[in-house]
Amino acid sequence: MNFQQNYVQSMTQPQTFWGNAAEDIDWERAWDSVLDETNAPFYQWFAGGELNTCYNALDRHIENGRADQTALIYDSPVTASKQNFTYLELRDRVAVLAGALRNMGVVKGDRVVIYMPMIPETAMAMLACARIGAIHSVVFGGFAADQLASRIDDAKPKVILSASCGIEVTREIPYKDLLDTAIEQATFKPSHCLIFQRPQVKAQMTAGRDIDWQQACAEAPAIDCVTVASSDPLYILYTSGTTGSPKGVVRDNGGHAVAMLWSMRNVYNIQPGDVFWAASDVGWVVGHSYIVYAPLLNGSTTLLYEGKPVGTPDPGAFWRVIEEHKVNVLFTAPTAFRAIKKEDPLGNYLKKYDLSHFHTLFLAGERCDPDTLKWAEELLQVPVIDHWWQTETGWAIASNCLGIEKFPVKPGSPAKAVPGYDVRVLDDTGNNVSEGQIGNIVIKLPMAPGCLMTLWNNDQGFIDAYLKHYEGYYLTGDAGYKDSDDYLWIMSRIDDVINVAGHRLSTGAFEEVLASHPDVAECAVIGVSDKLKGELPLGLAVLKSGVNRPHAEIISELIALVRKKIGPVAAFKQAIIIERLPKTRSGKILRGTMRSIADSRAYTMPATIDDPAILDEIELSLKTIGYAGGS
Ligand code: COA
Ligand code: AMP
Repeated sequence: MNFQQNYVQSMTQPQTFWGNAAEDIDWERAWDSVLDETNAPFYQWFAGGELNTCYNALDRHIENGRADQTALIYDSPVTASKQNFTYLELRDRVAVLAGALRNMGVVKGDRVVIYMPMIPETAMAMLACARIGAIHSVVFGGFAADQLASRIDDAKPKVILSASCGIEVTREIPYKDLLDTAIEQATFKPSHCLIFQRPQVKAQMTAGRDIDWQQACAEAPAIDCVTVASSDPLYILYTSGTTGSPKGVVRDNGGHAVAMLWSMRNVYNIQPGDVFWAASDVGWVVGHSYIVYAPLLNGSTTLLYEGKPVGTPDPGAFWRVIEEHKVNVLFTAPTAFRAIKKEDPLGNYLKKYDLSHFHTLFLAGERCDPDTLKWAEELLQVPVIDHWWQTETGWAIASNCLGIEKFPVKPGSPAKAVPGYDVRVLDDTGNNVSEGQIGNIVIKLPMAPGCLMTLWNNDQGFIDAYLKHYEGYYLTGDAGYKDSDDYLWIMSRIDDVINVAGHRLSTGAFEEVLASHPDVAECAVIGVSDKLKGELPLGLAVLKSGVNRPHAEIISELIALVRKKIGPVAAFKQAIIIERLPKTRSGKILRGTMRSIADSRAYTMPATIDDPAILDEIELSLKTIGYAGGS
């Protein structure tokens, strides 16, 4: 079938389309219905079906002759180490870790928080949870203890898995100290923490609570897979919304396994035995889907890289890894390529390496600017594919599907909706907008398998955040348009989410932190354009009357407070103090107008602004820190 035939079948006969795709997964019990719509909008894919995701990712490949094939390559320039695990070795390590979890009392349905760096044990931890039907929730290491604490309180994990440290280029990050602080802050307390001691830092253990990972595994039995229902949760992954409270996206087992495997072959054109590298972090959805689950479900080899595109040690790092491990496909965020381009604009480092096995670069996580896409195409001489998705969907909503049929690349567009997704562009009243006109991008329900089932312990929040705006549609939060060839163009967010180096952050969360400073009366945080990271947060604060301290001092405190409360990943390094915030007469802060001023974009003076003169003052202040045309 060509692309059009695939797409049409996925729309008109979804049961046949996804039923066929599900044949590639091993089920303990076949499903009763491919899609159960009786409890809409809470849809169930493969209702009645039973399986185990870890069995499908590891054991079945061993039974099918892949025991000695490399399943996972660990490449860590920051520790100067590399390690390969065959499917057999990885399965055995995972089965024993599952045994250690069982010894700590973890059973099917229990939550397990994983707060770990980019080491193989992190992937093993996720798979060990899947093996016994426990629900993992991985928290990205660049978040602060406060963020970890709020996720602990929401997920209520029986056990937390962590390591003594992470390594950021040359800096050791004491993960265990951050974990201890988070547990102290959280209201909910886990029964145990399983701590992996890395040689670089030795963590202090809390007697009675903390258990040594290596020792626990030495004493644990290997555990077999536990059968779960297709609709049982596999994991919770928290993501930023419009407020400071993160949303716990819940993924099922059955729909997820089917979607992951289908995407590997049809979107990425990756076969069993091929080497796939997602240069992201397991703490993000890209890491869940394309470092851990999809490549392994497909019987491919996955690569887990503990390093950066630049600085570990140079901008040739990606090319070195591709050559050395014969990588076929690389998936990363455009910001990584902008970082390489900045340090090596002529691509001199590439000339040292043989990339003959490499056939495609996929980019996602943020809008890919046409300049970066063209630079990568010219440098690598392979297709560069921008594709669009989000934590909630878990896989691509729009992409060139290389395993089916390659369409011409239009720089700046992630191409067309992928089979399974009925993507529409609507105006505020719910009507389809015409071709080329910008509107709210929505997906008609039901969405493809693998998309979020709900928010953890918050069905109403799921409806309020995504479904209540347009009856029968999921609101993506992105604005854009469709052109006459049905290509989608994803242009901006409609909410207060910003995208910093491919990381999704909420300006609402930043504002909550700034507002907690004793000298701040009011504040706003906006995303301003940045050549490297796409966007950067910028704070604007109004001080309480009577505060006479030096502004520079207060700004440093605000920066330190955001780092402490949200984490280094927030990259919050700039703020200005102003007299008043620009608002409409009804009190709405004019964030969009301030963004336009900061980025030196033309804007129309809002008719309802209460005090236009304030905009000139803001422009002057922004110039002093290099925005609004300042240098
Ligand atoms: N644990 C602790 N700290 C972390 C961390 C982790 N896992 N990951 C990042 N940080 C810290 C960094 O050290 C940095 O701290 P600093 O302010 O003290 O320098 C801060 O968080 C910001 O990190 P990052 O956004 O990674 O910026 P960077 O300047 O270190 O690197 C890039 C810039 C472009 C090289 C980097 O963002 C990158 O490689 N991006 C690839 C894209 C990607 O992974 N996207 C994910 C979705 S696909
Ligand atoms: P996250 O949930 O962190 O993966 O962030 C998802 C958001 O990142 C999307 O809703 C978009 O705003 C943005 N995004 C991801 N990929 C793309 C892309 N290829 N083009 C444009 N925006 C993207």
